[in-house]
Amino acid sequence: MYNMSLVSPDINNYQMTSGESLKLGIMASGSGSNFEAVIQAIESGKLNAQIQVLIYNNPDAYAAVRAKKWNIPVVLLNHREFESREQLDHQIVETLKEHDVELVIMAGWMRLVTQVLIDGFPDRIINIHPSLLPSFKGVNAVEQALASGVKITGCTVHLVCLEMDSGKIIMQSAVPILEDDTSESLHARIQQQEHRILPDAIALAFRRNIAFSGHRLSR
Ligand code: GRF
Repeated sequence: MYNMSLVSPDINNYQMTSGESLKLGIMASGSGSNFEAVIQAIESGKLNAQIQVLIYNNPDAYAAVRAKKWNIPVVLLNHREFESREQLDHQIVETLKEHDVELVIMAGWMRLVTQVLIDGFPDRIINIHPSLLPSFKGVNAVEQALASGVKITGCTVHLVCLEMDSGKIIMQSAVPILEDDTSESLHARIQQQEHRILPDAIALAFRRNIAFSGHRLSR
């Protein structure tokens, strides 16, 4: 038995109600399957939001292909072309503000953040991580879980703070580790849960004012 969502069931699959749609900015480094899950939730009417821009840092990130397919504006900010993490983050903040973004979603963004990004969008940045935080922070979280011998791992959506993978937890889903699991098979099952909880967590963060410090951005 898996698919244990560690939130009360009544908040799963609810619709966001009245009001303007939430303006999202997505940051991704790789495949972008979580990005696509957010798009699908919007398309199906489950999430009342619109994606203003995708920022990606690897020129060959498949996330950019997905964005173009859906006519979502893309901006490549290649970290190799910046002298420091802070300079990259300055450019990210500028790009997000230019695109009128209210809430930032890190959907597989593989760079450490600096105070510059946190200050640009305080309590307005969400990340998805493939473990049940606070266990297995950082890279190779799936491999860390396998190596540790735990029987249950999962995924976590959380607010981003300066300390890696340590911000306030918004939603989690548990995934059991099977006897014959490889990191690939386990990560595939974790990703099924990621795709399910990320859109729900975005809506929940907004609805319960977990993000925004209780306020929407003034326009
Ligand atoms: C996800 O497993 C996420 O938890 C981690 O990076 C992966 C991104 O996958 N932060 P994708 O690019 O969304 O397919």
